[in-house]
Amino acid sequence: MEIITKKVEETKRAAAELIKKIDQMAHQGALVLALEGELGAGKTAFTQGLAKALGIEEKVLSPTFVIMKHFNIPSAKTFNNLYHLDCYRLSGETDLGEIGFKEILKGQANLVVIEWAERVKKILPKDAVWIKFEHAGEDNRRITII
Ligand SMILES: Nc1ncnc2c1ncn2[C@@H]1O[C@H](COP(=O)(O)OP(=O)(O)OP(=O)(O)O)[C@@H](O)[C@H]1O
Ligand SMILES: [Mg+2]
Repeated sequence: MEIITKKVEETKRAAAELIKKIDQMAHQGALVLALEGELGAGKTAFTQGLAKALGIEEKVLSPTFVIMKHFNIPSAKTFNNLYHLDCYRLSGETDLGEIGFKEILKGQANLVVIEWAERVKKILPKDAVWIKFEHAGEDNRRITII
């Protein structure tokens, strides 16, 4: 599925639309949304839209300097926890071992959103949903959900 958004609000709305369908997505353990795409392509904006749609009121920032941030999902139905990761500064998969990432992947009630997911592809579950972000001229972004 491919969509073009023309401003940041549209990217956030696209995330809110996706979350409505997320209950139907099969997942063994955590559901992983693997976001890929260059700097400023809209990965964090998408995550902000997702978090808001889940009822999370805390501000979602780029977690670049903390690697991972956890949020409780207040209106928990399928998922109780949102984990937001940014792997831009990671040198490889091994770094994630130190923050208990493998345990997080086992939890069926965990929704895991990973920016720069291609850097840790090897340790992600096979049923991860890959979402590609591309610049498509000025404020346009192409979002492709695989
Ligand atoms: N259609 C659009 N969708 C998303 N963001 C847009 C759009 N048009 C303009 N923008 C702007 O582009 C920027 C996207 O930044 P964002 O932090 O979401 O990117 P990112 O992919 O997370 O980058 P990084 O790799 O640095 O983490 C924001 O400043 C946002 O306002
Ligand atoms: Mg970002």
